[in-house]
Amino acid sequence: MSGLLLEVKNLKSYFYTYDGVVRAVDGVSFYVKEGESFGLVGETGCGKSVTALSVMRLLDPPGEILDGEILFEGRDLLKLSEDEMQKLRGNKISMIFQDPMASLNPLMKVGEQIAEVLKGEGNGEREKIVELLKLVRMPSPERVVNSYPFELSGGMRQRVMIAMMVASNPRLLIADEPTTALDVTTQAQILNLLKEMKDKLGLSIWLITHDLGVVAEFCDRVCVMYAGKVVECGSIKEIFKNPLHPYTQGLLASLPTIERKVDKLRSIPGTVPDLINPPSGCRFHPRCDKAFAPCFDVPPEEVKVSESHRVFCHLYL
Ligand SMILES: Nc1ncnc2c1ncn2[C@@H]1O[C@H](COP(=O)(O)OP(=O)(O)O)[C@@H](O)[C@H]1O
Ligand code: SF4
Ligand SMILES: [Mg+2]
Repeated sequence: MSGLLLEVKNLKSYFYTYDGVVRAVDGVSFYVKEGESFGLVGETGCGKSVTALSVMRLLDPPGEILDGEILFEGRDLLKLSEDEMQKLRGNKISMIFQDPMASLNPLMKVGEQIAEVLKGEGNGEREKIVELLKLVRMPSPERVVNSYPFELSGGMRQRVMIAMMVASNPRLLIADEPTTALDVTTQAQILNLLKEMKDKLGLSIWLITHDLGVVAEFCDRVCVMYAGKVVECGSIKEIFKNPLHPYTQGLLASLPTIERKVDKLRSIPGTVPDLINPPSGCRFHPRCDKAFAPCFDVPPEEVKVSESHRVFCHLYL
């Protein structure tokens, strides 16, 4: 398929712990097209972050990538040397996290940290940094250049991360729950800023979130993940108008709407299973009110509904 920036095929990443093997990512396939906003959504513990860390090749032991292909601009990242991979990170692929403090150096001024990304650009660096801070709509950019991260609010720190991302001019931004720690107003501002930067730089964004509401606001296309597997993918319209997987339907039913206020939310009963001993057959069967005979021991195959819509559920086989 042309126009694909990232293609993940049958990725398996496990953790080898004393309690057993955690099958955190277990045969996951999806793609991100050039210039699109792609969402990966699912409850906490479904394997979203482990998928992203695997793509960045930043998974620490006892985590290990066992199988699969990660094609970025046609090259398999799993076959690159650590040196080549390091060049790609922060150059072609950037990542931002829920907690910007995890990526910022607490002992360095914001301006110095941005300068590190810009290094080699020489004269007029301070002006360039202030310009970048203005671009990400940082309040008082002249002052923030000389501030330490702890002096900034969560939203301002995320703006610093976005400024650093813009400075490195990547092709793909992986944003793992970038607004989860922020209040609703700041969350909307940061999502709008990401949208604006995406259009300006022509990059692709892979947004990871547990919140289908954020996906609806931000993404062109989405894959829903449950217990280490992708269960449904489609365009925003396909997933919101015609959700097929009972898990996707459950996530949608728990979204607040104008008619259904937050205090009347229906949530999916039960919790994400332990991934050391995941349920046999369809991993969602213990929580699914539509489960029938094959669901208990046969893992559902992919059913292609349209060019962009696919679902893994026995109801459609
Ligand atoms: N370092 C680790 N050691 C063992 N298990 C881990 C580790 N990191 C994550 N996991 C397990 O991998 C699964 C997926 O985690 P994660 O990708 O962080 O979920 P998500 O980002 O969707 O909330 C979870 O069951 C989690 O407990
Ligand atoms: S395969 Fe069966 S258990 Fe799984 S979501 Fe479909 S109906 Fe429910
Ligand atoms: Mg996560």
